[in-house]
Amino acid sequence: MAETSAAISSMLVENRVFEPHPALVAQARVSGMDAYRALCAEAEADFEGFWARRARELLHWHKPFTQVLDESNKPFYKWFQDGELNASYNCLDRHMGTPVENKTAIIFEADDGAVTRVTYKEVLARVSRFANALKSLGVKKGDRVVIYMPMTIEGIVAMQACARIGATHSVVFGGFSAGALKDRIQDAGAVAVITANFQMRGGKELPLKSIVDEAIGMGGCESVRHVVVFQRTATACNMVAGRDVWMHELLAGQSDECPPEVVGAEHPLFILYTSGSTGKPKGVQHSTGGYLLWAKQTMLWTFDLKDSDVFWCTADIGWITGHTYVAYGPLAAGATQIVFEGVPTYPNAGRFWQMIERHGCTIFYTAPTAIRSLIKASDTDEKVHPKNWNLSTLRILGSVGEPINPEAWMWYYKHVGGERCPIVDTFWQTETGGHMITPLPGATPLVPGSCTLPLPGIFAAIVDEQGNDMPNGQGGILVVKKPWPSMIRTIWGDPERFKKSYFPEELKGYYLAGDGAVRSEDRGYFRITGRIDDVLNVSGHRMGTMEIESALVAKTDLVAEAAVVGRPDDLTGEAIVAFVVLKRPLPQGEEAKQIANELRNWVAKEIGPIAKPKDIRFGENLPKTRSGKIMRRLLRAIARGEAITQDVSTLENPHILEQLARNN
Ligand code: PRX
Repeated sequence: MAETSAAISSMLVENRVFEPHPALVAQARVSGMDAYRALCAEAEADFEGFWARRARELLHWHKPFTQVLDESNKPFYKWFQDGELNASYNCLDRHMGTPVENKTAIIFEADDGAVTRVTYKEVLARVSRFANALKSLGVKKGDRVVIYMPMTIEGIVAMQACARIGATHSVVFGGFSAGALKDRIQDAGAVAVITANFQMRGGKELPLKSIVDEAIGMGGCESVRHVVVFQRTATACNMVAGRDVWMHELLAGQSDECPPEVVGAEHPLFILYTSGSTGKPKGVQHSTGGYLLWAKQTMLWTFDLKDSDVFWCTADIGWITGHTYVAYGPLAAGATQIVFEGVPTYPNAGRFWQMIERHGCTIFYTAPTAIRSLIKASDTDEKVHPKNWNLSTLRILGSVGEPINPEAWMWYYKHVGGERCPIVDTFWQTETGGHMITPLPGATPLVPGSCTLPLPGIFAAIVDEQGNDMPNGQGGILVVKKPWPSMIRTIWGDPERFKKSYFPEELKGYYLAGDGAVRSEDRGYFRITGRIDDVLNVSGHRMGTMEIESALVAKTDLVAEAAVVGRPDDLTGEAIVAFVVLKRPLPQGEEAKQIANELRNWVAKEIGPIAKPKDIRFGENLPKTRSGKIMRRLLRAIARGEAITQDVSTLENPHILEQLARNN
């Protein structure tokens, strides 16, 4: 890393520290930093024992394991290999005969506000019935099943039912296009697809089943024998005779008892596709035992889960967050959770706050993008500001998926958490299965914009390109030095790509996260500086695009959101292009030039002249996937003035591409 990078980082040093509230510390599972350090020391002194104890304590093993970690074929690590268990049993059956049996498992709020509650006992019955239904179609252990479903109880039941019979599910986000769905069905070799006729989002009925038809119609999906269709709305959809079956018809007459299929700890619980920096999406394969252990343990540690909590993770089951912190973790931990079908801005941008009040939510876990868009909405419309609702039940807030800029952090902390709730800024990835670096609510002093410290048992570090440790204060490559139970096992069907992508030879066998990070000089806190593939090189100086964005967004009177990408430049190698959403109407002509100048100078002031964007484009919004991720590849193409050849069908707002392509 160039020296400049360190200099830039140090200019962005965040000095505010928020100590955990003593009342929260007193009752926390990990109470205070000494307790945290003791757990870390335990993992250091007796690595395998540390994990074995947790695996025995937290999971039910039909056959106990005798071996903890098998490193004989690195990096294809195996955990608890000879142990046998079932994930669905651990999430449901295990609670029967305990007070959790009749506890509400899911509070489901539909797009239109209708609420359905189901207890653990009811979820078990529904999962068992569905598992029997899948068996009646001939789906068996080891088969792959693609789930293309809206956020519904049925979606979670479908995942759990697959787990119950040992089928490996692959959930595809309902916002993906037919082509993307086809690629995933084909790569996984799925024998069945579970879908719905339509999904409801923001008052609109959007098709799912017809997209499945289109995907299968593209060819290459001959492995699919059955399509199970959940009737979400009354609107008719095409049904292919002999292949398609209505879920309610299939379930009719099925027994609500289904003995779980006990599988080996390494049995693939699921495959989840995620984008790499190159090539087609990768099928990240997760295990059963190690994955579930960490899903449950992090529920207890990161969210300090109590029996009385009402947990709400807003992520869709199509993403890893919706797997670990909707479909598996909360159930394994016996939590009551809110599941939301709709979007945060419908019927207005107060929806989240209204739902927190309505359901007495105590732990709220969402993404910075959502927070930023709600800040923007409440800046323009007082009526949707969180102050209009009673949010006093909240005790812990969480953030996930991207770096949270200190300004958004402060707003979240103040206006949502009432300066009372710690924010756990959880850094992790599809590949890591669960949280890696995060504050613990009853222990870690918080610094806005920092994910703070690795969880006990996670040996995260920052290294240079040869895998040597970097001193605090100097940016580098984020790695994890030791394996952990919930790590990716392989890329489905492509073990070589797995080795190359995540365990490159030059990095001493460490897991490569693909992110840059820096640890603070004072506390050794981690701050993620953005994907390494998003790092720019301007005149030989490296800069995290996120740092520039953070600086732009810090111009709070003007900027709502910003995204920065690189563009080849004859003179400087790469030039910085910033796409900016202003907190005012789209500027034109002279006004645009003048604001762009103001922002350039602002960035120069915040970071340094080398970070000045060469080009600033304004738009009413940024191109995002339906999951809310900014599509940087698209921005890079616009920045270069290239024609858009990539598929923009998943874009929430395709019209803004034109705005952003305009030069000011
Ligand atoms: O760049 C990091 C960012 O999201 C990437 C992982 O994306 P995905 O596999 O889709 O999983 C998202 C949900 C876990 C990471 O490589 N990221 C995730 N969480 C954070 C983050 N960046 C900064 N801070 C976070 N808390």
